[in-house]
Amino acid sequence: MTEKIAIVGAGLVGSAWAIVFARAGRAVALYDENRAQAEQALSRIEINLEALANSGLIDAPAEVLARVAVADSLGEALDGAAYAQESVFERAEVKQAVYAEIDKVAGQALVVGSSSSGIPASVFTEGLGCGPRCLIAHPINPPYVIPLVEIVPAPWTEAGVVERASALMSEVGMVPVRLTREVDGFIANRLQAALLWEAFRLLEGGYATAEDIDKTISEGLGRRWAFIGPFETIDLNAPGGLADYAARLGAGFFELVKQGEPAAPWSKTLIAKAHDERRQHLPMDGHLARQAWRDRRLMALAAHMTEADKKIGR
Ligand SMILES: NC(=O)c1ccc[n+]([C@@H]2O[C@H](COP(=O)([O-])OP(=O)(O)OC[C@H]3O[C@@H](n4cnc5c(N)ncnc54)[C@H](O)[C@@H]3O)[C@@H](O)[C@H]2O)c1
Repeated sequence: MTEKIAIVGAGLVGSAWAIVFARAGRAVALYDENRAQAEQALSRIEINLEALANSGLIDAPAEVLARVAVADSLGEALDGAAYAQESVFERAEVKQAVYAEIDKVAGQALVVGSSSSGIPASVFTEGLGCGPRCLIAHPINPPYVIPLVEIVPAPWTEAGVVERASALMSEVGMVPVRLTREVDGFIANRLQAALLWEAFRLLEGGYATAEDIDKTISEGLGRRWAFIGPFETIDLNAPGGLADYAARLGAGFFELVKQGEPAAPWSKTLIAKAHDERRQHLPMDGHLARQAWRDRRLMALAAHMTEADKKIGR
């Protein structure tokens, strides 16, 4: 792939993607239908690059920033780009309109990845000439410190396009996970949904506070999940590996899962209960500062993971 990358939609996620590509040496064209958003994105990128430099994650923030330029039109952004990362609003009709525009101006070689959190690419690329070169490339925000990207082809996405998008993501330091076909929520949000439903169920039942339920992840399960997933966890937790674990504990886990059915929407009362407890720990006027704290912790974790990869191996 050539050097230039286009970002279409320069909000929270688009501006974070710009850092990923520019950090890897790519020229990045930022396009947003609202020019002021793209200008704001540049300031946000500058601030986040400084923070990355302060965390030891990049060396020359000014050089990275210099690779990012605001484009005046979609055509200008896509001109000469081999890959575009679409990051507009999560609404089917907005994405459909953007892809119709992209289809008009895109060159024959352009690959387009969508940051879509849940709308599959088939909803907004059907019948388009560029459809076979479109797929989902879903990040966890912010992608410059969380490397996962879910690659999800539409039924008409060419196999070679999946290869090219995955290779590009690896080149720029992301870790692509490929789905063989579309499924609602892809993988990450399906796993997150299962966990969130169970957390709310436990809270609703009055078994523990929201704080203690959170701690079971932050002080417990999440410690392993930062570097191994659920299958490797159980494989390492029985002397004979995964099959041994399943023989010992599979039936017990099945009982727990059965108790969880059927899923019901969160009631207003339940949401209020969880929200009010969170506000006791974090009043809304501290919300922004806590988000900044979370991002600093994510940067510190990214720095630690890089060190640990070098010292201990992956
Ligand atoms: N926020 C997250 O945590 C997160 C995580 C992963 C994926 N995503 C996905 O990323 C995408 C973007 O989310 P976000 O949080 O950055 O949203 P956002 O609201 O911060 O930014 C969206 C941007 O798209 C621009 N836009 C809208 N229509 C446009 C058009 N026709 N042409 C050009 N620009 C246009 C808007 O002006 C806005 O700046 C969504 O699909 C979302 O689901 C979000």
